[in-house]
Formats: sequence, C-alpha cells, structure tokens
Amino acid sequence: MADTKAGKKKRILSGMRPTGRIHLGNYEGALKNWVKLQDEFDSFHMVADWHALTNNPDAAHIHADTLDMVIDWMAAGLDPKKCTMFIQSHVREHAELHLLLSMATPLGWLERCPTFKELYRDDDERKGLSYGMLGYPVLQAADILIYKAHFVPVGEDQVPHLEITREVCRRFNKLYGKVFPEPQAKLTETPRILGADRRKMSKSLGNHIVMSDSPDAIRKKVLTMITDPKRPRKNDPGHPDECNVFTFHQLYNKNRDRIPEIEKGCRAGDWACYDCKQELATALVEWLEPFREKREALAADPDFVKDVLRQGNLAARRAAQAVMTEVREKTTLGSLIADD
Ligand code: TRP
Ligand code: SF4
Repeated sequence: MADTKAGKKKRILSGMRPTGRIHLGNYEGALKNWVKLQDEFDSFHMVADWHALTNNPDAAHIHADTLDMVIDWMAAGLDPKKCTMFIQSHVREHAELHLLLSMATPLGWLERCPTFKELYRDDDERKGLSYGMLGYPVLQAADILIYKAHFVPVGEDQVPHLEITREVCRRFNKLYGKVFPEPQAKLTETPRILGADRRKMSKSLGNHIVMSDSPDAIRKKVLTMITDPKRPRKNDPGHPDECNVFTFHQLYNKNRDRIPEIEKGCRAGDWACYDCKQELATALVEWLEPFREKREALAADPDFVKDVLRQGNLAARRAAQAVMTEVREKTTLGSLIADD
C-alpha cells in the first residue's frame, strides 16, 4: 500500500460522493488529476458516502453506487498499489472530528457558503434541507484534516468548501495548539467540458456522457451535443474556441493532425457540424475502449474490488486514529478517567 513509502511524500486527500458510474465531467474535473498525482503524492481517495446522505438520507443505493464508482476509478487508472482508496463511513473517526470542528465553526461561514445558499434560497419552507447539509463543509474539513493532507485535488466548484476547511483549520490550531497543516486546493488544468446542452455536465441534468456507456449510446449522445451557438447555418463560419465539440476533439481525438484541420475548416465555414460530431463520436468511442475493457474485467471480480477497499479502509483508519489521538490530547477531552 501507499503508506509503506509515505515518509517523504506530501499527502493528498480527495473524495467523491458515490453517484454510481462516472461521467466525463467527473473524470476531467477530478479523477484525471488523481491518476496523474498518485505517483508523486501519498494519495488518499475517499468514497464520501456520509456526504451522499446530506440531500437524501435514503441509503439503499449507496453500496451499489460505491462499487460502481470505485470500479470506474480503477478502470480510469487509479492503482491500489500506488494510492489508498477507502470508504468514509468505515473510518468513524471522521465523525468524531466533525463534531469537534462543528463547535469551532461560526454559523455565518456555513450560511454564506454558495452551495448552501443556493439550496436554501430554493427551499422556502425548509422542508428538504437537512441540518447535515448545513454542516456539509465541516464534515469535508474533517475528511481532509484527519489525514493532515497538504493538498486537495478537486474541481473548481469545491473551492468555497476548501476555503472553509482552511478557516476551520486555522481556528482549531489557534484554540487548541497546532495540529493540522493548512491544506491547499489543487485544481485540474483541463479546460472545463460541458454537457450536451452546454450547461455544467451533471448526472442530475441528464446531459452527461457516462464513461462506460456502450458505443451506441455514446454516438447518440454526441450527436445531440449543442455546437457553436453563433453558427446558425452550416456554411456560416464557426467559432471552434466557443464550441464544446471542439474542446472534446482536443481532449479525445487521437488523430492530432485533425485538430488544426477541424479548426480551419470550421472557421472557413466549409466543415459541417454534423460531420464534426460524427468524427468525434468515433474518436470518443475509440478513446474509451481501453477504459471499457478494464471496467468489464474489474466488474467481473467484485471480490478483488472489495479487497482493495478493505485494505484501503485499514490504512485510512490507521492514519486517522493516530491523528485523533493527538486531537484528543490537545483538546484534553476524553482523558479525565482512565478506561481500564
Ligand atoms: N464535496 C465533494 C464533492 O462533492 C466530495 C468530498 C467529500 C470531498 N469530502 C471531501 C472532496 C474531501 C475533497 C476532500 O465532490
Ligand atoms: Fe463546433 Fe465542429 Fe461545428 Fe465547428 S464544425 S462549430 S468545432 S461542431
């Protein structure tokens, strides 16, 4: 496991809520970066199953979605020999630290968090919004701090959460003495890819391309993609730099010579969007082929996947327990009466 040579490497912690099979937005936003960083950092990657309950306490789908997601992580290149993959709810120390951090978190920080604010605005009757949702960033802070992580590789949308983590970290260190290093976000460099409708790619909007989709499903989805909105007729000149389909070509078309050709043809108005999307569909199916094969092999061996998680849970628990011992010493709570 990664902890055998953890000594000198800086540590990374990141997580995703278990939403089942991953889509290209998940991959470009975070996973691709995780795969790249696992050689250089002592990497911990977490299935945030408690976080998944914040907007829906129904846990029935969590097990299946966890396995589907972790299979995709590995199919995309996360290697259990290089990093630690684990499940949040299997490391209960996160909950203990979350409780302590929640006492040191002013309500205003949480009410001002953009993700919460948006949900709060849309829910006038306060029926759908849980107490846990308000504390979402505090639990996330506990996830990160409990491993004394230096970096958190996430997508842009997580930056406000990371800011809260940093503030909670400073507050805790000031109150009880320095325990935690201040973690930093490590953003992905890839251009942001959009969904078929040009909004942010997301499962709930249904505009996403699932990495393990069949070639047929991928082809259909690509053909529905909205292209350059400023190009109403096919012989009008296009603007590839404003076209999501072109961004996809840059990422997934293995025939690199085609990129400048497509760009030129599009600008000149003599390369049709329909052909452009057909070519992209073929390129994307080909690009995803090794992923699909690896995923099928992993899905056929669920015991192996569970074993990876079992080992990961153990390694994560070991790390989290050591830090919690230190936290208890600093806060002094839990030590008045000896247990034995
Ligand atoms: N909030 C993150 C997301 O929705 C998931 C997450 C939970 C996370 N805990 C974390 C990410 C800790 C980074 C670090 O994507
Ligand atoms: Fe986009 Fe291609 Fe159409 Fe140009 S030709 S607008 S790059 S889909």
